[in-house]
Amino acid sequence: MDIISGQALLLLFCLILSCVLIFSTIRSKRKSPPASKLPPGPPRLPIIGNIHQVGKNPHHSFADLSKTYGPIMSLKFGSLNTVIVTSPEGAREVLRTHDQILSGRKATNAIRCINHQEASLIWLPSSSARWRLFRKLTANHLVSPQRLEATKALRMEKVQELLSFMNESSKREEAVDISLATFVTALNVTSNILFSADMGSYDSKKSNGFQDTVTGIMEAVGSPDAANYFPFMGFLDLQGNRKKMKDCCDELIRVFRTFFDAKIAEKSLHNNPKDVSDRDFVDVLLDLTEGDEAELTTYDIEHILLDLFTAGTDTNSSTVEWALSELLRNPKTMAKVQEEIDRVIGQKGGVEESDISELPYLAAVVKETFRLHPAAPLLVPRKAEADVEVLGFMVPKDTQVLVNVWAIGRDPNVWENPTRFEPERFLGKDTDVKGRDYELTPFGAGRRMCPGLPLAMKMVPLMLASLLYSFDWKFPNGAVSEDLDMDESFGITLRKTNTLHVVPVKKRAIN
Ligand code: HEM
Repeated sequence: MDIISGQALLLLFCLILSCVLIFSTIRSKRKSPPASKLPPGPPRLPIIGNIHQVGKNPHHSFADLSKTYGPIMSLKFGSLNTVIVTSPEGAREVLRTHDQILSGRKATNAIRCINHQEASLIWLPSSSARWRLFRKLTANHLVSPQRLEATKALRMEKVQELLSFMNESSKREEAVDISLATFVTALNVTSNILFSADMGSYDSKKSNGFQDTVTGIMEAVGSPDAANYFPFMGFLDLQGNRKKMKDCCDELIRVFRTFFDAKIAEKSLHNNPKDVSDRDFVDVLLDLTEGDEAELTTYDIEHILLDLFTAGTDTNSSTVEWALSELLRNPKTMAKVQEEIDRVIGQKGGVEESDISELPYLAAVVKETFRLHPAAPLLVPRKAEADVEVLGFMVPKDTQVLVNVWAIGRDPNVWENPTRFEPERFLGKDTDVKGRDYELTPFGAGRRMCPGLPLAMKMVPLMLASLLYSFDWKFPNGAVSEDLDMDESFGITLRKTNTLHVVPVKKRAIN
């Protein structure tokens, strides 16, 4: 009996031991210790690290390097650790799986020189209560379905003005600077939604300055800057980005103030508050500056407006310019999209926003443009708020994290014939730009996704469809489509280096 119970005890002990071993092996497999390895990357030089490997178009340099080092790589620019992801899986991990930890922002020297990181929708960390308030205000009072409906007529009116301008140029058989013309339209839509006034004019002498100011800010923020890599050098302003940023922002804020002052004066004259439907975004914000429990100051409003003007004008207009450029280089695609628009709109005289959902090929043209020419090719730089594991590698706290959406859009492992402009690839597919398909995220994704997306997805197709419905386009001075270059200039947003100049040829009467 003793022997039997001794054997039974031994058996039981072995059984428990094996269970414990099996259980702990499974557990350790499920919960592997955090990765300690940094992502691979090119060798670094002392002090400068990898700065010498980045050219004028950083998204190109990073795309080339990722062919050697893979979909996640780490580079060092002076003291700035940077991780760049270049695959849909990497984008998903950054923008979705670890969205919360990776939703900080790495403010550049130009941003810091005006302390914009302390009052900006774009540059405040997502953990900040002010950022949440600013996001809520834009979601509820700028791009909510009700506000978009209420500002529909305004967008139509501004597109109509663009067509009238094209019509005049067509009569004179004059080439139009498409970048400037579409910028004026985007600017006036934005300024009217924000404070019910036009800021742009199609008279090139008057409005060129404003476009230069907005692109000046983009360049100052996005251009290489020694102080981004060696912060102690900030005061030297070696690249002139601080001065450029300050001058451009002072100029914009000076213009905003004239509009505020007029509004405040108007408010004090009328005791009756405006009807809700007549109130623009700045009216709503100014109300929040009043009383003992004011949620905002005019300083906050100035900085929110800086963000909305810089993020919301050039992005829309350059997307239309890239789309038109691609269509001019691809005459068959141009014919196909114009045929669709003509068939659906017929003799109605003009495109309306409600027609856009009936134009699937146009929608595919817009997606194809975003794939090849995303307005923000590296999104807006993010920052890791804590150590985090991405694609099996360690991304330490405070690292700058970039998603190269430009390179993902041209990756042969993701897209067939990636460099060809072929809108057909999207027909019959659900792939969309709304931040759920990580091979196509021109607006980013997750909590920092572009809040202007609903507005942009109305403006870009409406402008493009209207231009294609009312006009054919020819190159000036006998140039042909093969002469059209597609060179890019990077400055946080991606612009055409040589802006598109074409002559509009009227197809039908303009309403
Ligand atoms: C074609 C048009 C546009 C494109 C491609 C675009 C793209 C982007 C991208 C990529 C980001 C960064 C997202 C991220 O970090 O994951 C962004 C942020 C932002 N965009 Fe847009 N945008 C466009 C139009 C607009 C418009 C019309 C507005 C407003 C009127 C706007 C306002 C903003 C703001 C305020 C942010 C910062 C959001 C934050 O950091 O929380 N954008 N946009």
